[in-house]
Amino acid sequence: MGWGKVSSLIANIRKKTTYLREDFMLISKKMSQAINEQIGNEFNAQLQYVAIASHFDRESLPQLASFFYKQADEERQHGMKFVKYLVDTDATVHIPQIPAPKADFNKAEEAVQHSLDHEKKVTEQINNLVALAVEEKDYTTQTFLNWFVSEQLEEVSTMEGLLRVVQRAGEENLLYVETYLAGHNSTHSPQGQQP
Ligand SMILES: [Fe+2]
Ligand SMILES: [Fe+2]
Repeated sequence: MGWGKVSSLIANIRKKTTYLREDFMLISKKMSQAINEQIGNEFNAQLQYVAIASHFDRESLPQLASFFYKQADEERQHGMKFVKYLVDTDATVHIPQIPAPKADFNKAEEAVQHSLDHEKKVTEQINNLVALAVEEKDYTTQTFLNWFVSEQLEEVSTMEGLLRVVQRAGEENLLYVETYLAGHNSTHSPQGQQP
């Protein structure tokens, strides 16, 4: 067999092996790219909550601070769930650059409103991931994302609740919010779930 034939045989085998390997991939490249983006979004949410928590900490509002530090921990866990998912599906983890969070807030209401808007944005991002999984008939990712769909409903509803309490109290009476949160923080586990 001449060299030309051998090299074309090798090229053919390579092509077949690559095809087989791609065929066995649990998730598509497009899906792994979208999930990597979401890892960035979750870590971005984590940083945003650390910034908001430290703002309240500086204002000597410990319950508000603790509520947002806990939210930050949860966002880190969300990011790590996506990281673990990529590892489990044998996809590469490429964490994108994380933009700096907003650091200055004039009013408590502004910080909470910003958090609510952020949670709504993340809900949309999760919905887009689900839509992609449906489009690709990727049932593995659809099942994995179910937890995030329920989690976002809880996050949006918790933040809407806090916004209402902050608005009702007004900036002069944030100590009422502290009392409200003292009960809330003690009945919620670090995961922010009802016992
Ligand atoms: Fe999250
Ligand atoms: Fe969240």
